[in-house]
Amino acid sequence: MQTSKEKVVIVDDSLTNLSAARNALANTYEVFTIPSGEKLFRLLESIIPDVIILDIGMPSMDGYEICARLKAVEKTRDIPVIFLTAYNSDENEARGLTLGAIDYITKPFSPEVFRKRIELHLLLVAQHRQLSLYSDNLQQLVDEKTKTVIELQKTIFDVLAEVVAYRDDSTGQHVHRVKNLMNVFFDALKRSDVYAGEIAQWNGNLLAMSSVLHDVGKVAVRDAVLTSSVQLLDDEFEEMKQHTVIGGKLLEKIEEDTADSEFILHAKRMAETHHERWDGTGYPFGLSQDGIPLEGRLMAIVDVFDALVSQRSYKESYSIEQAVEMIRSGSGTHFDPALVDVFLGVKAELEKAVAAEEELTKNGIKDKI
Ligand SMILES: [Fe+2]
Repeated sequence: MQTSKEKVVIVDDSLTNLSAARNALANTYEVFTIPSGEKLFRLLESIIPDVIILDIGMPSMDGYEICARLKAVEKTRDIPVIFLTAYNSDENEARGLTLGAIDYITKPFSPEVFRKRIELHLLLVAQHRQLSLYSDNLQQLVDEKTKTVIELQKTIFDVLAEVVAYRDDSTGQHVHRVKNLMNVFFDALKRSDVYAGEIAQWNGNLLAMSSVLHDVGKVAVRDAVLTSSVQLLDDEFEEMKQHTVIGGKLLEKIEEDTADSEFILHAKRMAETHHERWDGTGYPFGLSQDGIPLEGRLMAIVDVFDALVSQRSYKESYSIEQAVEMIRSGSGTHFDPALVDVFLGVKAELEKAVAAEEELTKNGIKDKI
């Protein structure tokens, strides 16, 4: 198989010098001899050489100017440039290297040494290219693996959330709907300028993933309390309230062992504070207004809205219109008023998210695990 030779371009106004340089390299490389900068740039319209060897003292356009022009254009910036010149002062060499040349060879030169230096530079360039390629491939591999890990993590958390949901007299539908509603809500929040500074670095997908774990603490609540269809006694209600604290602790344990914990941190705040109320009458801490983490204030609205439009064994579902009105009436007492405005501003999208989830369940696409 014939392998193509590396292309070397030599630019010099002296035919004698061009011929000497060509003689030194022609056996090993495909050599182009060019008498001026103008002709070099014309040649570069059709080929990209592996290296350009430049004389300095030439009429009209000198080697420094050619080098500067090559380095200023993206297409030619990475072509290695070597000066080959009779100018042998340190100043000339420093100027050439400062312009981006990789070597500076003075005439007269030994053909053997000249060839070896070109060979060395081309080898370095090839290694650099190979390293870049390897680095790109490695990054791609890391990205793929990371994606797989995130998908796996997402599935584990979804299943965990569904386990909790089934104990809580609801279905997997609840988990998926909460995620969809949170996605719609967060997108609307991003489009508004409400809490823009606080959410600037947040990732909507991670936030939606986190939301499914808000009730994870219910794994520790007894069935008799969790599924009771009559009013809970005081001590039973106290036990129920503990699902927030327990959820927070469970997620804190995961947070301690997780290097990238943005997702878990959101989940922990949601689990702990989704039953807090704007006016300070919620639980477990009785936090109020901005004292409630933003994740908890978002989750409070999504959780209540979802519960209202859900059918349970002890209640029929409310219509979207009724649910919207109930969220509106809780603005400033139960819920953060600025967030209620954003949430209700995308009513049509919320309706779509609820309908889409119902359709999937009706068609049996999402069955009970
Ligand atoms: Fe809850």
